[in-house]
Amino acid sequence: MKLTKALLCATALCGASAVSAADLEVTHWWTSGGEAAAVSEFAKAFNSTEHTWIDGAIAGSGGTARPIIISRILGGDPMHATQLNHGRQAEELVEAGLMLDLTDVAAAGGWADVVNPSNLLESCTLDGKVYCVPVNIHSPQWLWLSHAAYEKAGVDVPSDWFEYVESAPALRDAGLIPLAMGQQSWQTSLAFGAIQVAIGGTDLYVDVLTNKNAEAAASPEMTAVFQAYADARSLSEGSNVQDWNQATNLVITGQAGAQLMGDWAQGEFQVANQVAGEDYTCLPGLGVNEIIATGGDAFYFPKQDDPAIEAAQKELAALMISPEMQVAFNLKKGSLPIRGDVDLSAANDCMKKGLAILAAGNILPDGVNAFSADTAGQIEDLMVEMWNDQSVTVEDAQARYTAIIANAD
Ligand code: GAL
Repeated sequence: MKLTKALLCATALCGASAVSAADLEVTHWWTSGGEAAAVSEFAKAFNSTEHTWIDGAIAGSGGTARPIIISRILGGDPMHATQLNHGRQAEELVEAGLMLDLTDVAAAGGWADVVNPSNLLESCTLDGKVYCVPVNIHSPQWLWLSHAAYEKAGVDVPSDWFEYVESAPALRDAGLIPLAMGQQSWQTSLAFGAIQVAIGGTDLYVDVLTNKNAEAAASPEMTAVFQAYADARSLSEGSNVQDWNQATNLVITGQAGAQLMGDWAQGEFQVANQVAGEDYTCLPGLGVNEIIATGGDAFYFPKQDDPAIEAAQKELAALMISPEMQVAFNLKKGSLPIRGDVDLSAANDCMKKGLAILAAGNILPDGVNAFSADTAGQIEDLMVEMWNDQSVTVEDAQARYTAIIANAD
């Protein structure tokens, strides 16, 4: 019996009925080197069953792929499985009855007992029914540092954001880009959010994003956040790349000293055969406030009117959350597993840092970001404008930010 079949039998799914082979089209936006290496672990394991993984990779970021995925499902041309982020991205599709109920799979696999943190399963659950399988934990709040760049600059690898900013002139003198940054707006927004958590601290972050406290937005503590963002803006001059993984490559090849990016960047270092702690250093919470968010990815299974397809969809969901797949996929993805009962002896230095933070419960509270899409859009526009226009001062930006928070909904 094939390994994966045995695995599925362990989840009491294989005994249900004879399994007829099915081709499942799976959509996702994992097209960088590291992302492709990770998703191939899912595909390889599924292809070792009677079924076939038809890869539906969509180029571009989540902001490009999500509208395509959602419009296909609403338009009656659904894929069989799709990646989306943890949270409420599929809420309307679930409420419209367009997504497969996985409650029996979740019960057979004991998901309620293994998924950690539990809010990842809660965000898959509506009216007591489970509609997605969480597959990883990603966090945006990381700084990635190139050992080769620091060796060339003749300075020690920084241990936090402040040392990093101080090291920038030496990087420039060595002809290097201090901070690699792609030009897509979500990347500069991610940078502001990471700086806000690290430099401003968790209480301030919650006060502004959850309580929508305009006084907090106007505080001297937030001025320090805007100053750090302005520093990052200056340090990225010369980083003329578009995609996040192209920016990561600048760090991998020693052309840039650092990148401020989520831990999915780690997948790129791995496919480049670089070793955490030897070739690069990762600083969760930018080395200042070791707090991480529990973002990341889950898979949903649009309903199909075909019992054989539905059985295969449920097998894939069970496979993705299995201990073996959680290790194989997350080690390649650079993310953390969504269950604690797995053998992560192969975890590298950065994954171990993330696991320690998770184990200590040093995570951002769930549902912190209470902004409407409109408010979030106004903030993203401000951050992009400030990043791309040196004439926007810290004072200007903070005043405009405070006005947005004062009217936030
Ligand atoms: C995020 C996703 C990650 C990573 C990143 C960059 O939305 O959760 O898995 O792929 O996009 O593409």
